[in-house]
Amino acid sequence: MTNLKLAVIYYSSTGTNYQLAQWAEAGGKEAGAEVKLLKVPETAPQEAIESNPAWKAHYEATKDVPEVTLDDLEWADAIIFSVPTRFGNMPSQMKAFLDTTGGLWFNGKLVNKTVSAMTSAQNPHGGQESTLLALYTTMYHWGAIVAAPGYTDPVTFAAGGNPYGTSVSVNQDGEMVEDVQAAVIHQAKRTLSIAEKLK
Ligand SMILES: Cc1cc2nc3c(=O)[nH]c(=O)nc-3n(C[C@H](O)[C@H](O)[C@H](O)COP(=O)(O)O)c2cc1C
Repeated sequence: MTNLKLAVIYYSSTGTNYQLAQWAEAGGKEAGAEVKLLKVPETAPQEAIESNPAWKAHYEATKDVPEVTLDDLEWADAIIFSVPTRFGNMPSQMKAFLDTTGGLWFNGKLVNKTVSAMTSAQNPHGGQESTLLALYTTMYHWGAIVAAPGYTDPVTFAAGGNPYGTSVSVNQDGEMVEDVQAAVIHQAKRTLSIAEKLK
């Protein structure tokens, strides 16, 4: 997969989705792809970030992670998204970024991008699937090819069995409950393998 370009695009307030994105980045590199790890711009008011010590600490710690641009979308053959669940939906930060892609969409620049997504939530039934499906709705409008993991490898079962994309629950202390690292790496490699076939 030497000629493949993978963009891992995430939003995270308290670090979970940053970790998922880093595992996807590692999986992509293992597969031989050129990988960019990119965050979407924070849009929350500074006082909201300041009022939550975990959010503030993560915000400060990831200041140097590059912010995604529209050029990155055009550059990528494959894109993996990672976002926390917000009321069973994607966070507004990711939606705000997706809503800037109208020009690329209009010019057909997003057609046939191979995509998949990951998420986290406090509760196993707190909207993990609906968040992924909400994100995929936009992907269908792009004309992208959704390469969800399905049950293509036993690691999906060990990670909680979400076929739409790897998802993880976080406890009250913000720690991941299920061990999903292998599932994330499998998802990254599978997304790239579909991108390779398309390319
Ligand atoms: C505004 C808001 C809405 C949330 N909605 C849900 C939800 O619908 N279901 C759920 O299980 N967890 C919900 N959570 C918990 C987050 O999903 C959890 O904190 C997140 O997955 C952690 O990811 P991060 O560390 O990458 O920010 C919500 C959190 C916030 C702040």
